[in-house]
Amino acid sequence: MGQLTILGLESSCDDTAAAVVRGVPGDARVLSSVVQGQADLHAAFGGVVPEIAARAHAERLDECVKQALTQANTALSDVDAIAVTAGPGLIGGVLSGVMCAKGLSAGSGKPLIGVNHLAGHALTPRLTDGIAFPYLMLLVSGGHCQFLLVRGHDDFSRLGGTIDDAPGEAFDKTARLLGLPQPGGPSVQAEATRGDPKRFRFPRPLLDRPGCDLSFSGLKTALLRARDELITDKGGLTEQDRADLCASFQAAVVDVLAEKTARALAIYLAESPAQPVLAVAGGVAANTAIRARLETVSAGNGTRFLAPPLALCTDNAAMIAYAGLERFAAGETDDMTLVARPRWPLDNSRPALLGSGKKGAKA
Ligand code: KG4
Ligand code: ZN
Repeated sequence: MGQLTILGLESSCDDTAAAVVRGVPGDARVLSSVVQGQADLHAAFGGVVPEIAARAHAERLDECVKQALTQANTALSDVDAIAVTAGPGLIGGVLSGVMCAKGLSAGSGKPLIGVNHLAGHALTPRLTDGIAFPYLMLLVSGGHCQFLLVRGHDDFSRLGGTIDDAPGEAFDKTARLLGLPQPGGPSVQAEATRGDPKRFRFPRPLLDRPGCDLSFSGLKTALLRARDELITDKGGLTEQDRADLCASFQAAVVDVLAEKTARALAIYLAESPAQPVLAVAGGVAANTAIRARLETVSAGNGTRFLAPPLALCTDNAAMIAYAGLERFAAGETDDMTLVARPRWPLDNSRPALLGSGKKGAKA
């Protein structure tokens, strides 16, 4: 098969993105990856406002595409296909992307490929490191938390996922409760380095139950209660109280993720993969304490731990272009009937996860 050049578009949450990827399945490179965040537009609202996001995507996609093509030193006439996130996500944003991609496809005559956003994340280890199937993927971000056994570009088994909040949401909420800046993950992590992780015994939700499902909303409530007790008893929080709360919260998240990862690994390793790999994606994968523990769990199970560069772990369009490349190479394309889907589970054999986070459906 010859080299394929794919243009990708992503607009399912609060990042408007376009990228060009070239290669073949398992051996491709990113020629350009443009991401325009919208944090400034939503900052005052404490979460992503779907209408504002959709409007910004509609206004910015054209420019992102132009930049991505220019930076890749290529033209629309040179690409083999146009891939676009068709879900899951905030429906207005997904629609903006799908409409833009349909326009580009109609105007250029290039094939259109709808991509599942979660498949984009899940296939990233093949883009960055050419990892062979099957591998285990942990998606941890502000909108997602699930374990996926990836057997093929269109073959995913969800071994478990959050039944309520995503961990990133819990970090962001913790920061808000303690008056720390957003996004909460980095600020909580920074506080935690100065704190005592054993001072508060926060719950480890669902550890007493079998399986790989996770839960983070109870942890958030426990933190709120501990904070309020300190305020009632002492009239406020000291710097040390705050650091200890962060450290104790983070320790609970780390313990839960480590134990559930060990269980997911056991299921995956039962399939005897030749070169076992655990890969992570999502903004929470930036957390050094989480990374370190997952690395330990992997090493203890003879499994390679892989964390792609952060720019490809968080939302971007290179992963969408690459997932589109895999679909295109397999002879799969869409047409003008492609629909935008707010919910689109990767694994249809499992019931949909509950809840819908501040960043949209968790699928
Ligand atoms: O993947 P991402 O950029 O966006 C989506 O959620 O789609 O992830 C953002 C999330 C935020 O909730 C942020 O607080 C969290 O990732 N995050 C972290 C860290 N850096 C970012 N959480 C924990 N520790 C970090 N160092
Ligand atoms: Zn995402």
